[in-house]
Amino acid sequence: MSYHWINAQDYTMNCFLFFERWALRYIFKNSENKEYIQDMAKALYKYPYLKEFIRIKAPEVKDFMDAIEKVDCKKYFSEELREAETKILQMHETFVVYAYPEIMNQVNYIRNWSPENLYRLVDLTDKIVLDVGAGTGRLAFAAAKKAKRVYASEPCDMLREYMRDYIKQEKIANVRVLDGFIENLPFEDNTFDVVISGHVIGDNYDKEISELTRVLKDQGLIVVCNGDDEFKRKGPNEELVKRGFEWFVHESIEGGIIYDYRKQVKKQ
Ligand SMILES: C[S@@+](CC[C@H](N)C(=O)[O-])C[C@H]1O[C@@H](n2cnc3c(N)ncnc32)[C@H](O)[C@@H]1O
Repeated sequence: MSYHWINAQDYTMNCFLFFERWALRYIFKNSENKEYIQDMAKALYKYPYLKEFIRIKAPEVKDFMDAIEKVDCKKYFSEELREAETKILQMHETFVVYAYPEIMNQVNYIRNWSPENLYRLVDLTDKIVLDVGAGTGRLAFAAAKKAKRVYASEPCDMLREYMRDYIKQEKIANVRVLDGFIENLPFEDNTFDVVISGHVIGDNYDKEISELTRVLKDQGLIVVCNGDDEFKRKGPNEELVKRGFEWFVHESIEGGIIYDYRKQVKKQ
């Protein structure tokens, strides 16, 4: 599925040089899909240094890279190679925008989002807050205006650096940026009053919610505060409702029907 966050014609495969090892692992995992291997071989044909970089940075994708080398790309015209390149870039546009934070800030769900959408879900006054998968800091910086301290965990280096630059530029004193995956957060048990997150939960609900719960204090809140995109959703996320989340709905400036979620954790 393409969100049309980028026009792939504006990019080249060089943006893969920004990608983390975990992202390369995700992108180069499907060594059974012949068409995908063919497209990737064509897309990378003009970038031998990039193939070397990928092999060095993520040695575990060796089988995929070996499969690419078996594709005969000499027979293709430049236009065909470029067509495969833009197809691959569009397919992996989420990773492309993570490499260009200024572009990410202009995508549908972020550009018109208002912090009021977060404030009506939770009173953050004097709270210790974690934003998981913080991206460019949409939620973390909104939370920082109310909370005592905010930790923004984010597994992409380009996005962490973007948030750190923003903190310096805006002289924000109560936000700390650090690495971290939702499945394995770098925090002690019972650390936070509130854990917020947007567009991150969903690959493995039980594992992710259990990790968010672990780092929350007893009676703490998990808040899933999504951005304001244009998608006209027909109902709340059943996986979250099934796991005890309350839901809230509003219409976004982009014309979408947006659901946000909240759950209070009880540990005793
Ligand atoms: C669609 S963006 C949302 C960014 C931000 N939460 C927002 O709503 O504006 C998803 C973010 O989650 C991060 N991410 C991807 N996989 C993750 C994981 N396993 N754990 C934590 N964050 C992850 C990405 O790097 C990216 O910044």
